[in-house]
Order: sequence, then C-alpha cells, then structure tokens
Amino acid sequence: MGRYPAHVGIQISPSILSANFARLGEEIARVPDADWIHVDVMDNHFVPNLTVGLPVVESLLGATSIPLDCHLMITDPDRWAPGYAEAGARSVTFHAEAVHAPVRLARTLRGLGARAGLAVNPATPITPYADLLPDLDMLLIMSVEPGFGGQPFLDMVLPKIAEARDMVRRYGGDIWVQVDGGVSEATIERCAAAGADVFVAGSAVFSAADPDRMVRTLREMAIAASGE
Ligand code: DX5
Ligand code: ZN
Repeated sequence: MGRYPAHVGIQISPSILSANFARLGEEIARVPDADWIHVDVMDNHFVPNLTVGLPVVESLLGATSIPLDCHLMITDPDRWAPGYAEAGARSVTFHAEAVHAPVRLARTLRGLGARAGLAVNPATPITPYADLLPDLDMLLIMSVEPGFGGQPFLDMVLPKIAEARDMVRRYGGDIWVQVDGGVSEATIERCAAAGADVFVAGSAVFSAADPDRMVRTLREMAIAASGE
C-alpha cells in the first residue's frame, strides 16, 4: 500500500518546530539530504502549544519536493487528519490517546495515498495496539512529552522502542518505528540499537551550524548503531 520500497532502512526526518517560522521554505532548503520533513501540528488542546495547521502544510507542499511527515498532536484526528493526506502529505501520524476509531482513520489515510502512523506518548504502552499493525505503516514512539522541542530525551522509552520493533518483527510487515523527541548525536545510537529506523530531530538539526551535515551525521551514527 505504501509508496516506498519494501525496506528503505534508516531515515532522518528533521522537525521544523525548531526552525525559523518566518522563513520555513528557506529552512527546509537547508536540509536537502533529509528523507522527510517532520511537521508538528499542535492545537493547544491535545498539547499545551499551538503551531501550524493545514494551510501552512499546503504551502510547504508547494515549496519542497521532500515528502512531508505530518505529526498531528491534536484532538479529534478522526475529523482533521484526512485533510492532510488529501493535501498531499505522504505520511500522517495521529495519536493513540486522541483517536476514536484508529482502524477506520488509518484505512482512510491509506485510501488517500498517505502512509498511516500511530503515535504513543511516553506513558502510553504500545503492545495493546498490536492488532492494528495490518492497517499501519509506522509506529511513533514519543521520547519526550509532546508539545515542545528541545526537551531532554527520556531513556525510559528505550524498552518500548524494542517492544515496538519486536511487535513489527512478529507481525512480519514492513512497518517503520519512529522515535521523536530529544534525538541528537548523544542519543540516536541508543534509539537505533533499540530498533528505531526513522529519527525525528528538531533542535539537533536546526541549531547546528550546518543542518544538512547534521542530518548526514545522525544517519551515519544510526546506521552504525543499528548494525544495518
Ligand atoms: C515534540 C515534537 C517533536 C519535537 C522534536 O512535541 O513532536 O517533533 O519537535 O524536537 P527536538 O528534537 O528538539 O526534541
Ligand atoms: Zn513530532
């Protein structure tokens, strides 16, 4: 169902939450080596912060050829998430804590041509969602409480990354395991060793002097640590 080859390996998805919002197009142009651009949509309701919504995502789609990885930290994703897929976001991730009908929503997103992702907060277990794997393309394991960039990585989620990888292995499908929050040169190896294969990094990339070089450095570190 996905638009990507069966196994694409380690990928880096820089989060523009740490970029300059007054010139997002130029900021994205600073990371041409990124596999995805991670867009954090926050509604000041599911999380205590407000960022961007569909109009900005539509504009970004016209400003870059790098696929958009939309992370919806919003209530009622059942209602709002399909619009992001319709607009052309190639990956749309909704939260387990917010969704009402995850199977229906995941099928709707895939029907619109997007990859469907399920995200869990640090305190939410992943194993209860094992039965949903046939309808999903990605599990997003939050490694900070969602809402803000620049927070320290929570080591407590490492066992959950390993559980997610085991679930996927047992299921047998090619489902990506994304880690989001506090990912940097100091933490990415632990995440890769635990089984993550898609890495979101906001402050680590956009506060670097050379953001694209940081993307490549993070990718190389993750590849080495994953034993790929
Ligand atoms: C947090 C967001 C993350 C955040 C990551 O709620 O979902 O994507 O931007 O930023 P860093 O890498 O700075 O933790
Ligand atoms: Zn995010």
